[in-house]
Amino acid sequence: MTSLWALVFGVIVLFAADNFAREVEQVKEFIVGGSEGWREPTDNNTSMYDDWATRMRFHVGDSLVFQYHNDSVLVVDKFGYYHCNVSHSILAFNNGNSTVKLDRPGAFYFTSGDPVHCLKGQRLIVEVMSPHPIHPSPPPIASPPESAMPPVLSPLSSLASPLAVSTSTLSPVVIAFMAVAAAV
Ligand SMILES: *[C@@H]1O[C@H](CO)[C@@H](O)[C@H](O)[C@H]1NC(C)=O
Ligand SMILES: *[C@@H]1O[C@H](CO)[C@@H](O)[C@H](O)[C@H]1NC(C)=O
Ligand SMILES: *[C@@H]1O[C@H](CO)[C@@H](O)[C@H](O)[C@H]1NC(C)=O
Ligand SMILES: *[C@@H]1O[C@H](CO)[C@@H](O)[C@H](O)[C@H]1NC(C)=O
Ligand SMILES: *[C@@H]1O[C@H](CO)[C@@H](O)[C@H](O)[C@H]1NC(C)=O
Repeated sequence: MTSLWALVFGVIVLFAADNFAREVEQVKEFIVGGSEGWREPTDNNTSMYDDWATRMRFHVGDSLVFQYHNDSVLVVDKFGYYHCNVSHSILAFNNGNSTVKLDRPGAFYFTSGDPVHCLKGQRLIVEVMSPHPIHPSPPPIASPPESAMPPVLSPLSSLASPLAVSTSTLSPVVIAFMAVAAAV
């Protein structure tokens, strides 16, 4: 029984490590506005930053890079964003190449430091998604439903047969589980 618990714990640790590796792998840097950069939109294009943001998916750990000339970028709250009110910025940059790390899930609001530019559409909302839940639910194989328990507890021979069926469709974590299970 002790070794079974060690096995279950080991699989949970493997799963967490796998998720972590994936998160690190996927961290991205987004150039805001793409090749257009961060600038006052033309009169017929006031939604250009909305359009840009809706084409992207942002995750915790990603960064936004604002590239601009003769302009600035402010991190503001929702009120500042909707009213183009720049008097209470949370962060301000004017160095032409400003990186903001998206360090939490939820909404981030940005505007130009020039309220006229903001009113023309030089403002941005980014919705940041959590890469995975804070308390990840254990993988199905680590906590199988009652009906699936007997094979796990039965001798190695019956454990091995169902696992041999479709290795190719299993994730590396499940394969690691199988390797550990085979070693028990
Ligand atoms: C948008 O405005 C720019 C000039 O401000 C113009 O060159 C461009 O053709 C316009 N585009 C459309 C689709 O109206
Ligand atoms: C608005 O700007 C984007 C680039 O940010 C461009 O691809 C798009 O064609 C522009 N739309 C209009 C109507 O000018
Ligand atoms: C920035 O402003 C300076 C002086 O006001 C001007 O000479 C320069 O052309 C501007 N650059 C851009 C990219 O607008
Ligand atoms: C910006 O908001 C503050 C309240 O937070 C208000 O006192 C100020 O008048 C507003 N400025 C503008 C330009 O609307
Ligand atoms: C802007 O800053 C990033 C780092 O934040 C750097 O990698 C990049 O080379 C810089 N780009 C320019 C044009 O200075």
